[in-house]
Amino acid sequence: VQGLHVGIIMDGNGRWAAAQGWQRVAGHKRGAQSVRRVVEAAPDLGIGTLTLYAFSSDNWQRPEREVSVLMSLLKRYLQSETANCVANGVRISIIGRRDRLDPALLSAITAAEDATLHCTTLHLRLAIDYSARDAIVRAAQSLANCKLITRDLFADVLARDKHDLRSAGDVDLIIRTGGEQRLSDFLLWESAYAELYFTNRMWPEFGAKDLSDAIVALHSRDRRFGRVETTAAAAS
Ligand code: FPP
Repeated sequence: VQGLHVGIIMDGNGRWAAAQGWQRVAGHKRGAQSVRRVVEAAPDLGIGTLTLYAFSSDNWQRPEREVSVLMSLLKRYLQSETANCVANGVRISIIGRRDRLDPALLSAITAAEDATLHCTTLHLRLAIDYSARDAIVRAAQSLANCKLITRDLFADVLARDKHDLRSAGDVDLIIRTGGEQRLSDFLLWESAYAELYFTNRMWPEFGAKDLSDAIVALHSRDRRFGRVETTAAAAS
């Protein structure tokens, strides 16, 4: 898939719900609607790959009820959106550990991945039970017998899943909603040269216009990847 790779840390669901006088899980439910909005808006903004941080490995430490609501929201999202994704050319894949997921969620995952495998308009990657450090350690472990590890090989192994033998590529932009400014163990390797965009907007309120604002900000940044400007280099 061509186009920008954008990663989103969807933060602020709980605080948004509390501000309405609602329970935290109500914020997650609204958050699932924001996911639908950004997936719909992404292709027209030049985004080819969208990686959403849906559930971090550290999120298992949340109260049991909140974990189970999140898991069932994810399952329902996959079940209800797959047909829509096929119609709109959206390929779904999941990154993260699979061995701790409920069998019903796992089968929703494989069904969504298999049904959308041929889609090429947008690659939607949902990070579930994901930890970037854990992913890096597992990739390193799988290469333990390899004599020469290159960056490209490592990146490919890191991104490898059942269907994907090639890396999804570096991340161009990381967006974090909810006002905090940190990466929280998300795509640490892949975002080595990512631009970071933080907004106070809470995730349940995030929409197409906010995504567009972030992309406009990205285009206004001077991305040098450690080099100097070509024109400046010629002049010096
Ligand atoms: C962070 O907000 C958000 C999460 C831990 C979960 C993200 C999940 C969704 C948006 C819903 C389901 C996702 C999909 C793909 C359908 P928080 O609870 O940490 O908010 P807080 O910082 O205000 O407490």
